[in-house]
Amino acid sequence: MPAPLTRRAACRRLAAFLAGSPLLPAQLASRAEHDRIPALDEMANVFEFEPVFRAKVLRAAYDFCSLGVDAEFTLRRNREAFGWVRLIPRAVADVSSLDLSTELFGQKLDFPILVAPTAGHQQFHPEGELETRRGASAARTIMMVSSGASYPIDKIAASAEGPLWFQLYARDTPEGTQERVENAQAAGCRVVALTIDVQYHSHRERLLHNRHLATPVPGASAAREQARSQRRKPEPPPPPYGLRRQNPDLTWGILQALRVYTKVPLLLKGVLTAEDARLAVEHGADGIVVSNHGGRYLDYAPSSLEVLPEIEEAVGGRIPVLLDGGIRRGTDILKALALGAKAVLVGRPPLWGLGAYGAAGVRRVLEILQTELALAMGHTGRRDIASIDRSLVAVDFP
Ligand SMILES: Cc1cc2nc3c(=O)[nH]c(=O)nc-3n(C[C@H](O)[C@H](O)[C@H](O)COP(=O)(O)O)c2cc1C
Repeated sequence: MPAPLTRRAACRRLAAFLAGSPLLPAQLASRAEHDRIPALDEMANVFEFEPVFRAKVLRAAYDFCSLGVDAEFTLRRNREAFGWVRLIPRAVADVSSLDLSTELFGQKLDFPILVAPTAGHQQFHPEGELETRRGASAARTIMMVSSGASYPIDKIAASAEGPLWFQLYARDTPEGTQERVENAQAAGCRVVALTIDVQYHSHRERLLHNRHLATPVPGASAAREQARSQRRKPEPPPPPYGLRRQNPDLTWGILQALRVYTKVPLLLKGVLTAEDARLAVEHGADGIVVSNHGGRYLDYAPSSLEVLPEIEEAVGGRIPVLLDGGIRRGTDILKALALGAKAVLVGRPPLWGLGAYGAAGVRRVLEILQTELALAMGHTGRRDIASIDRSLVAVDFP
């Protein structure tokens, strides 16, 4: 008669059975497949960079990049607006060679696409804007450097070849603003764009929730940062309510003041109405960027695409009109060009590329957009940028 099985012996037998069984490795393997970070060359479109970016950066950095203000209505509307525009193809056309180059402010651009100014790239990669610029230059794309960059403008300029533009936030004093512009010009920036839609720091609810998390330390990898934050004494959270001034006192006179020492073309970024576009022309702006700051300042502002036609009409070709907000596909770019934009800027996608794969990711994001634009042009019978016009689109804005 076999000895009765003790509890301990039964557990040992079960463990031996599991160790020899194919069930456990199969479970682990499927989990590994699930958690696998795809390689760069697996990325089929720009959206696919976003989950990889999310997996690789700190939560606070992810939220800083993705957020919109308040209920994020305008953030969503920026994307939705592209669904209200249909492309009307012309089938019989010789599109055997495609030319995506264009000219802006006397400068030749290989593509009508720029990297929009976004602050604080060190949250996404230890080398921040230096790495973004390397990727943008490799994709033959101009980067507009933010006033809130993690590195000084001369260092960013020196990190790669190719033209640079500069985005300006007016500082508290005229001298401070002048210094910023002069530094940018000395570093070789060929355009300065003053952002005009930032009267007060906006209410970013995702960041208010995250104020209990450790603030990201520029340059720290996620693992190092997490270890550090566990040791660090929590800082008092920033006040969630109340007003924090940014540029509440801008007047049209600023254009004249800037003109005294700004030797390069001067743009206004953040125009959303025909009336402001007309005033910008009258006050001597060399160009405007139709933008709602990626839905980060005024919620329930319109999407930039839906106001583009009326702004283009008000400007009447006197100065170039550029657009940003929600550009994620080559067809989005084609629609914006057909509605009157001379070029577009992309904000979040290069950051997804940066955080996910560094400079190579930035480059790939831009190259995907370039290739998709070329395809969209080919399939709508347009061989160059000059041949893209209003007849290309049917618009159903609500
Ligand atoms: C993380 C982040 C930081 C930004 N920082 C700035 C900035 O410093 N200056 C500025 O003019 N716009 C800034 N913007 C707005 C962008 O220049 C651009 O208007 C917007 O991102 C375009 O929308 P998209 O992200 O949907 O492409 C920022 C946007 C993001 C997402």
